[in-house]
This record gives sequence, structure tokens and C-alpha cells, in this order.
Amino acid sequence: MLVLGIESSCDETAASVVRDGREIVSSVIASQIDMHRPWGGVVPELASREHLEKIEPIVVEAVSRAGVNFADIDAIAVTQGPGLIGSLLVGVCYAKALGYALDIPFIGVNHIEGHVYSVAFENPEVEYPALALIVSGGHTNIFHIPNEGSYKVVSRTRDDAAGEAFDKVSKMLGLGYPGGPVIEKLALDGDAGKMTFPQAKISDGRPDLSFSGLKTAVARYVRENEVEPLKEGEAANQQIKDLAASFQAAVVKALVGTLEKLARELSPKTLIVAGGVACNQALKRAADDSASRLGIPVYFPSKHLSTDNAAMIAAAGYFHLIKGSSADLRMTADVTMRLQNLGNEEDIKGRGKIKYRM
Ligand code: KG4
Ligand code: ZN
Repeated sequence: MLVLGIESSCDETAASVVRDGREIVSSVIASQIDMHRPWGGVVPELASREHLEKIEPIVVEAVSRAGVNFADIDAIAVTQGPGLIGSLLVGVCYAKALGYALDIPFIGVNHIEGHVYSVAFENPEVEYPALALIVSGGHTNIFHIPNEGSYKVVSRTRDDAAGEAFDKVSKMLGLGYPGGPVIEKLALDGDAGKMTFPQAKISDGRPDLSFSGLKTAVARYVRENEVEPLKEGEAANQQIKDLAASFQAAVVKALVGTLEKLARELSPKTLIVAGGVACNQALKRAADDSASRLGIPVYFPSKHLSTDNAAMIAAAGYFHLIKGSSADLRMTADVTMRLQNLGNEEDIKGRGKIKYRM
């Protein structure tokens, strides 16, 4: 079964053809990072206009690189939410129109579930129960997945996502956007033990995460020690490298410490670490060490599948399609989509009260 995946939830326009949920036949990603960089983050209005221009050529390229025709595509999977409303709408409307024109099934996919499925390629098959840490610029959650397709959030960030913390600290130090890759690079030459940043304690005792206190601790260090943010083109000094390494170590310790604690409680057979921050090699090493201590495997997506892509959307969509699910033309973008179908009513609704569908 050939599924065409389409992703446009944030700043990547992507399309991919995936065979039977596990084989990438083609994957095309157009990143908008260069366009947003001067603004220090994603500008939603610019993002949706760019998606509108790119969606058609990217889908056509994915189908042509796969060496197939549109008539060979069996179904379409598109990111329905969460994400930026204008960006999501471009993918959703395009997918519905294409599905209608080709007279094939289409389905809306939760972007976060897509990240879970990014490990479906280049890894052995996931054994359940699994525990998945999804860390990106917009999300930081740990999901308990007792069997395929069932999700319970067992840890969430109370404030910033981990990737967002990388981006904000990077901005503070004059290192540019996105922050993750540049902080990781500088941290290679830094001393992670130079500054000790505190680990957040959640007062109600839940195994949740918090990164805004860490960001404030870095800001305080910068102020009290008169650290000068880098000017454009200036090379980083040792102090900035040490700050990058110490900050990164604090994030990794919080993420992997919480993942391991929950794994000891829930005894999963597999760990999954995915999302943009999963590119980070320090995080990867720490998660590998933790998995060895636990005696279970940990799967990561390969680098090009860590950040947003459409292959993971096709893989997640395939799982739902083979169970017989599909959408109709009333399907619409939903920025408030949560990934949880286990647990109590309050948990399932999540904390967002406002429904924003279009
Ligand atoms: O998954 P993604 O492409 O988009 C979202 O859905 O948010 O993740 C982007 C995030 C950014 O915040 C970026 O700084 C972070 O992932 N990131 C990294 C690394 N590469 C990207 N964070 C830490 N280390 C990296 N190497
Ligand atoms: Zn993402």
C-alpha cells in the first residue's frame, strides 16, 4: 500500500511516499528556516504563504522521485494538528482536494503521533508497551503506549518545550535561530560541569518537566557575570561554550532522568526518543546509557526524520488506514489536537479549554 504523506504544520513543507508504513520510497522537505531566521523565530503569516507556494511542487516532486504516478497512490495522510492554523490549513485543504480528485481515502494525522512513528524506519519493530519521549520546539511530553495506537501522557512540560528553551537561550547568547544545533556544536568544546544549573522541582510531585526556570537561571548567570552576547560573525569564547555545555547538560539530565524514572515504574519493552531535539547527540548518548541500565532498546529517528517530515505522517496514517479509519471532506485543521486516548476524562481533554478548528 502506497501512502502519500503531507506535512505543513510549522515551517517545513514536506511530502513523502511510504510503502506499507515502513519503507520510504521518497521524502522531500522544503525548510523555511532561512526565511524566518532574520526574525529569530517562525512568523506564522510568512509560513502559510510559503506553504501555499511550495505545496504543489513538493508533492509533485515526491510522487515523481518515488517513480510512480498519482494513480498508483492508495491513500493520503496529512497533518491535521497541532501546529500553526494557517500552515495546517494549506496541507489539509490540499490533501482533501487531491484525495477527492483521485477518489482515494485520506486521513488527518496528529503531528505528535507522527513523531512517534518517525522511528518506524531504520529501526527494528517497536515492541509494546513502549515509552516515548517526544521533544521538539513546540512539544515536550512522555507518552506511555501500552499497545500500538493507545497513548497516555505521563509527563509534560509545565512551561517551555525543551527545543524552545534551546532557542531562547541561543537568542540570549546571540547565537541565532534555531538554537539547538548551534548550542550542541559549541557545547562540544565546553565544560558541562562549569556552571551548575538547578533541576526544576514540581511542587505537586508529578513527574512533569519545566524549562523556564532553567532559562531564567541562564539569564541570571549572563547578567551577574556580564556575559556579552555574540555579535554577528563573532566567534564564541570559552565562557559561552561552557554556558552552552552546562545548559545542554541540565536539559538532557531533566529529560533522561524523568524518562528513566517513568520506565522503572511502567516497565516498557521499548523506549522511543523523537522530535527535533532528538538530533542532539548528548541526549542520544544519555538515553543510550539509560536504556542499557534498564536493559531495553531505545530507538531514535535518523537525523533527517527527527525534524518535521512527511514520511512519519505517512507511517502514522498507514496504521490508522489499515484499521479502516479515514476522513471525509468535513475534516479540518485542529490546532488544539492532543495525543491521548487513555486516562481520565480531564486528562484526555488536556488543559486547553479553547477549541480552535477551521
Ligand atoms: O520537531 P521540530 O523540527 O519542530 C517542531 O515540531 O517543533 O523541532 C525543532 C526544534 C527547535 O527548537 C530546535 O532548536 C530543536 O528542535 N533542535 C535541537 C537540535 N536540532 C534541532 N535541539 C537540540 N539539539 C539539536 N541538535
Ligand atoms: Zn514536529
